Amino acid sequence: MEIAFDTARELARLVSLAAAACADFDETFEPGVRPAEARFGDYQANGVLPYAKSKRTNPRALAQQLADELAKAPLFAEGMASLEIAGPGFLNIALSSEYKFAWIKKFRDESNFADGAGSLLSGKTVVVDYPSPNTAKQMHIGHLRPMVIGEAVARLIDFCGAKTVRDNHIGDWGTNFGTLIMAIKREGYDLDAAGDNALAQIERLYKEGTALEKADETGTVRDQSRAELVKLQEGDSENTALWEKIVATSNRAFERIYAMLGVKPDVTLGESFYRDKVQRIYDELTETGLAEESDGALVVFHPEHPRFNEQPFIVRKKDGASNYAGTDLATLLYRREHFGADEVVYLTDGRQRDHFEQLFLTAQKWFVKKGYELPRTSHVWWGAILGEDGKAIKTRSGEPIYLEALLNEAVERARAIVDEKSPDLSEDEKQQIARAVGLGAVRYADLSQNRTQDYVFAWDKLLAFEGNSAPYLLMAVARVHSLFRKAGAIPGDPATEAEASCLETPEELALARKLMLFPEAVALAVSDLRPHHLCTYLYELAGDFSTFFNANRVVVDEADIRARRLMLCARTVSTLETGLRLLGITPLERM
Ligand code: ARG
Repeated sequence: MEIAFDTARELARLVSLAAAACADFDETFEPGVRPAEARFGDYQANGVLPYAKSKRTNPRALAQQLADELAKAPLFAEGMASLEIAGPGFLNIALSSEYKFAWIKKFRDESNFADGAGSLLSGKTVVVDYPSPNTAKQMHIGHLRPMVIGEAVARLIDFCGAKTVRDNHIGDWGTNFGTLIMAIKREGYDLDAAGDNALAQIERLYKEGTALEKADETGTVRDQSRAELVKLQEGDSENTALWEKIVATSNRAFERIYAMLGVKPDVTLGESFYRDKVQRIYDELTETGLAEESDGALVVFHPEHPRFNEQPFIVRKKDGASNYAGTDLATLLYRREHFGADEVVYLTDGRQRDHFEQLFLTAQKWFVKKGYELPRTSHVWWGAILGEDGKAIKTRSGEPIYLEALLNEAVERARAIVDEKSPDLSEDEKQQIARAVGLGAVRYADLSQNRTQDYVFAWDKLLAFEGNSAPYLLMAVARVHSLFRKAGAIPGDPATEAEASCLETPEELALARKLMLFPEAVALAVSDLRPHHLCTYLYELAGDFSTFFNANRVVVDEADIRARRLMLCARTVSTLETGLRLLGITPLERM
C-alpha cells in the first residue's frame, strides 16, 4: 500500500473510486473529505448528504453502500484505517497508529513535502503581480503588505509546483511626471547629486510642484507641467532622460528594501512598458463592440452589473492618454501571450477592488470574443495597518512611517532583546538573529492576520516570545535544534530512525496527526491565497509539540522509544522550518 503525502486528497481519491463501483452513485458525487475533530477520528467524508439530497434518496442507505465498497480498499482491508458511519450519513475515518507512524517515517523533509505538494499546480504558469510600487515616492508602512503577502503567496505557489513569474508592475508612467519634471527644471535640481537620499528629494520636488500648481491662479504653472508631460510622451530626449533617472533612482531605493525582505522580481515591466501596446486594446474593444466613445474617452459598461452598468470602466482618457485600466488590459494580454500565463494573481490593497472587478469582467468578455484563452485571475487584497489608537498608522507629527526606517527599527529592537537574552553569542550571530527575529516578527504579524481585515501594528505584541508570533515559532525551532545538540543526534538521521518503534502515547499520536495536516494547510493557503491559514497551522503545531514535549521525555534509555520521539522532533522542526520559509522567515538553529 502506497502512503500518500496529502491524506485528505488520497482519501478523496479512494472514496471516489469506491463510489464509482457503487450502483447508486454517479459522477456528480463529491467525496467532501476534510480533517475531522479528533473525537470523530481523523478525517470525515461528508459528501453523501448533499448527494442524497440531490437524488432525493435516503443518505443512510447510500452511506452504507459506499462504506461497504470503501472497506475493500487495501487501506481499510489491511487494517491501516477504520471506517464508521455517523449521524445521517457521514463517514468517519480513523487512521491507525501504524499508518501515522509510516507516514511520519516516509515524509522526512522539504524535498518530500515539495514532491507531495508539487502536484497541486504542476504544469501551470502563474504570474504573480507584486510588489508593484509607484515610482517617485518613498515606500511607507503601507508598502509592507504587497511585499510580505506577495512573497508568501508567490512562495506557496512555487511550492505547489507552478512555474511562477514574479512580475513587478511598477507605476512609472502618468501625469505626475509632468509636474515632477516642471519642478525639477524650475529648481535646476541635479538628480545625480543627492545619493542615497535622492528619492526623498524627488518626493519633495513633486510636493512642491503640486503646491505651485495650486497656488498659481493664472494656470501657467499647470500649463508648464502639461507641456513637459506632452514632451515626455512625444519622446523629447531631455525629458526622457530625466524620466529614466527618476525611475532608476526609485528602483534603486526600492531594491534596498526588496533585499531586506527577500523580494526578487523575475521581471519589472512597469506601466511604461505597455505604452505601445494599448492601441491594440482600444481597437479590439471597439471592434468587438465592448467599448464605446464617451466625451472623447473610451469606456466599457457592464449592463448586467448592479453598479458597473452606470459606472463605466474608463480604458482611455478624454485627452486620448492611456490610463491604469487600459494599461492593465494590455498587461493581462501580454501575460497570456508572452508568459503563457494560466493564472494571474494581483496584489493590491482593498481600495482597488472595483478596478480589478471591472478589469476581470472586461477581460472575460473580450477574450471570449477574440477566442483568446483566458487565464484565471485573482485579486489578493488587504485591509489597512492601524496604529495602536485604531486609526491609520502615522508618526506622531502626522508624517508617513517610512518602510526602510521601520524595518531598521525592527532589527534594532530585536537586537536589544538578543543582547539581553544571549549576551555570549558572537557579534555576527547576534546580528543574524536580530535580522531574522526583527524582520520575521514584522512579517509574521502581517501574515498571521486574515488579510482582508485591518490590523493593529504593535511592537510589543509582534516581538513577544509568547503567543502567535514569529519569535515564538523561531524559538520553538531553535529549542528542537538545541535538544538534538544535547542528545548528540542529527535531526532526521536515518540510522537513528531505523530503531524507532510505533507511536503509542496520546501526545505522540496527536503530534503525528497534526504533522500530517501540513499538506492541507498549504493547500488551503494557496487555494484561498491567504497565508494566515499556514500561520495558524504552524502555531498549532508548535503548541502540539510543546504538549508532547512536556508529557513525553524524549531522551530516554529505551532506544526504540527515544528513536521514535527524536523522529517526531525532527519532523516537527522540518515542518516548522519549511512553513516559516514559505512565509519568507529565516529559521535559526540557535537563538
Ligand atoms: N502601482 C499600483 C499601486 O501602487 C499597483 C499595481 C498593481 N498591479 C496592477 N497590474 N494593476 O497602487
